[in-house]
Amino acid sequence: MPLHSNALLRQDADLTALNTFGVSAKARYFCSVSSLGDLQAALRDPRVRSLPVLVLGGGSNVLLTRDFPGLVLHVRLLGKRQIDDAGATASFEAAAGENWHEFVLWTLAQGYSGLENLSLIPGLVGASPIQNIGAYGVEMKDHFIALDAYDLRRNMVVQFGPSQCEFGYRDSVFKRGAAGRYFILAVRFRLPRAGALRLDYGEIRAELARSGIGSPSACDVSAAVCNIRRRKLPDPALLGNAGSFFKNPIVSTERANELTTRFAAMPHYAAGSGRTKLAAGWLIEQAGWKGKRIGNAGVHAEHALVLVNHGGASGAEILALARQIQDAVQEQFGVELEPEPVIL
Ligand code: EPU
Repeated sequence: MPLHSNALLRQDADLTALNTFGVSAKARYFCSVSSLGDLQAALRDPRVRSLPVLVLGGGSNVLLTRDFPGLVLHVRLLGKRQIDDAGATASFEAAAGENWHEFVLWTLAQGYSGLENLSLIPGLVGASPIQNIGAYGVEMKDHFIALDAYDLRRNMVVQFGPSQCEFGYRDSVFKRGAAGRYFILAVRFRLPRAGALRLDYGEIRAELARSGIGSPSACDVSAAVCNIRRRKLPDPALLGNAGSFFKNPIVSTERANELTTRFAAMPHYAAGSGRTKLAAGWLIEQAGWKGKRIGNAGVHAEHALVLVNHGGASGAEILALARQIQDAVQEQFGVELEPEPVIL
């Protein structure tokens, strides 16, 4: 690694351990950002001024298909705190580099609920608003108050409230118009002390019943979600993956009705205003791709929505597999699958 006057920047840094797919790729310049000062100093370095910038958190929602020709900013900002106590609710703040799951467990340990259904989602707090992480009937936006972000274009800290984030299903302004423009610094949430638990997602009740729990606490729900996830989703430490590789497609209800006439068993969920959400995992499984492997890339045997690196797969290999799956689902069902991770 060449030494430079600005020791904050590393050159030709290996990103293999920093993406959960475990694909190898390098960053031309790399900076580990532990403070706002680090961020500003890195951005001032003349070597990177005209280069593209990539903010990398837990690397659990990114597919690197080649070396990154610019500056990778690795989110390492730490710290979490309770901001206020309004009796029935309290607000909390976590720095962007805090591990999401540990933050969830910490809020539960403080006696607050709300985030239990989002247990064990890989990645960092700072990434949670970008795709509005969601699972088992709850989305991050349900408890979001605001976030602080550094505007990389105007070089200043700005605040985003819920409406400015334009949250949607697996979506926000940070994936669209504002993509790449902001470095999220900290996120704030409001959580109830004794909130209603969301058990409507079938598997949760079944899992609680299996453990013999009749009137669950938020911590019980968290444990149930962890059990379900551990059973179905591969641990990236053991098998490289980025969780769901595709979003569940949302089609017109008319189109969904045509499909359910042809495929009676097809899962479908009302998505509001004449739209219906389909299960991408089901579509992929029916198209015959569950558990398939092409070279070192494959489709997980327990959940067809998860693409895996069996060892040594390149990002391009995983992307090629994804394209074949998209074509197969398009051909059989006439439905377009959209990748969920950021593809670079
Ligand atoms: N299904 C199949 N075959 C499969 C996988 C799923 O037939 O291989 C069927 C299931 O039987 C079920 C339906 O598809 O009827 C939905 O499956 P599941 O409940 O497992 O949820 P999902 O829609 O596939 C979404 C999220 C997950 C989240 C779960 C639980 C997306 C893209 N994915 O998956 O998020 O954990 O719901 O809420 O919305 C992630 O983003 O990484 C992730 C794991």
